[in-house]
Amino acid sequence: MSNDIFSRLNPGISDLAPYEPGKPIDDVAKEYEISNIIKLASNENPLGASPKALRSIADLDDSLHLYPDGNCTELKNAIAHHEKVPEESVILGNGSNEVLELIARAWLNPSRNAITSKHAFAVYKIVTQAAGAKLIEVEAKNWKFNLEAFHNYFNEETAVIFIANPNNPTGTYNTHKEIEDFLLNVPSNILVVLDCAYYEYVQENDYVDVHQLLNKYENLIVTKSFSKIQGLAAIRLGYGLANASLIESLNRIRQPFNINSFAQKLAINAIDDKEHIQKSIDVNQEGLKYLSEELSKLNLTTIPSVGNFISFNGQFNGKELFEALLRKGIIVRQIDLYDMPDFIRVTVGTMEQNQIFISALKELL
Ligand SMILES: Cc1ncc(COP(=O)(O)O)c(C=O)c1O
Repeated sequence: MSNDIFSRLNPGISDLAPYEPGKPIDDVAKEYEISNIIKLASNENPLGASPKALRSIADLDDSLHLYPDGNCTELKNAIAHHEKVPEESVILGNGSNEVLELIARAWLNPSRNAITSKHAFAVYKIVTQAAGAKLIEVEAKNWKFNLEAFHNYFNEETAVIFIANPNNPTGTYNTHKEIEDFLLNVPSNILVVLDCAYYEYVQENDYVDVHQLLNKYENLIVTKSFSKIQGLAAIRLGYGLANASLIESLNRIRQPFNINSFAQKLAINAIDDKEHIQKSIDVNQEGLKYLSEELSKLNLTTIPSVGNFISFNGQFNGKELFEALLRKGIIVRQIDLYDMPDFIRVTVGTMEQNQIFISALKELL
C-alpha cells in the first residue's frame, strides 16, 4: 500500500482545481506598480454596499465578545418577510456557495450524480466532486441551459440538478415556462437547485417567478445572494428557500454559527433598501446596454446577458487580453476554466468605469 498521504485523498478531489477568484486590486497594484485600478472581475456592485446597511456597523461595538445568534432569528425574519415565505423555509449560508455545499453534502455521495449544463457556475463541480459524486454536464444550446436535454441524462443515481438562472459566466437565463415545464417532468426524488444569485438584476418579463414554483414543488430549492445587488460580497451571506422539511435537513449539518454578527446586522438593514436596489438596477441596465453596443461596434461577439456582467469573444486570446488589460489597471476575468478560452467576462461597472474599459479595449485590439 502506498504511504503517500495523497493516495488517500478522496478521488473526486484529485482532479479538481481550486476556485479561481477575480484578481484582488492590491495584488495588481503591487505586481504592475500601478494605481487607479478598476475591478470588473467578480460581478460585484459598482455602487458599493447599501448605505442603510453601512450605517448599522457601529451598533455591534459592545457585543463582539459574544457568539452570533446561531439561528439568525432577526435576519431570517427579515428575509422571510421580504420573500413572503415562512421563516422555516429559509436557510442562511456563508455566501450562497455555502448553501450549495450543504445541499451537496446532504444529497450527494460516491454512488450518486448531479446534473448541470456545460459552462455552468464553477462551484457546482467543486461541491459535487467534494462529496464524492459525479457531475454530468449537458451540452448548452446557444450558451443557455438546454433543460429539455437534461432528461436524457437522468438515471437511478441522479440526486441533484443545478440550474443557474441567470448563469455565470454566460449571463443567459431560462424563462419561467422553461423552468416549470422542466420541473413538471423531474422525478420528485431529484432535488432541483435554482441558483438565482443575480435575481434582482433580471428585468425580462418572462423570467422565473420563484415564489409560484416554491409553492408547487417540494423538490425545489432556490438560492439567492447578498453579494451582488446588495453590494455585500465582503460579508459572505446567501440563503436558500424551500419547504420546511428540506430546510430542516440542511440545518442538521450546518455549522452552528455560520453567519457572523456583522453579516446579520448589515443584511437586516440592506434587504429593504429599495432606493439602493433600484439605483443598482438602473446603473446596470444602462451599463449593460452601453457595453453590448460598444463591444459590437468593435466587431466582438457578445453573449446576450441579463446579469451584471457580459462575456464576449473575437480575434483575441482570452489570457493575453486579460493580461494586457491588467497592465492598464483593469481587472476582468478570463474564463478558460469554463471551457471558454477565447472569451473575456467583464462586470458592468459605473458608466465612467465602463467607458475607461472600452477605451482601453480599443487601444488593445
Ligand atoms: C451563479 C452564481 N451562484 C452563486 C454565486 C455565489 O455567490 P455568493 O457565495 O457570494 O453568495 C455566484 C458568485 O459569483 C454566482 O455567480
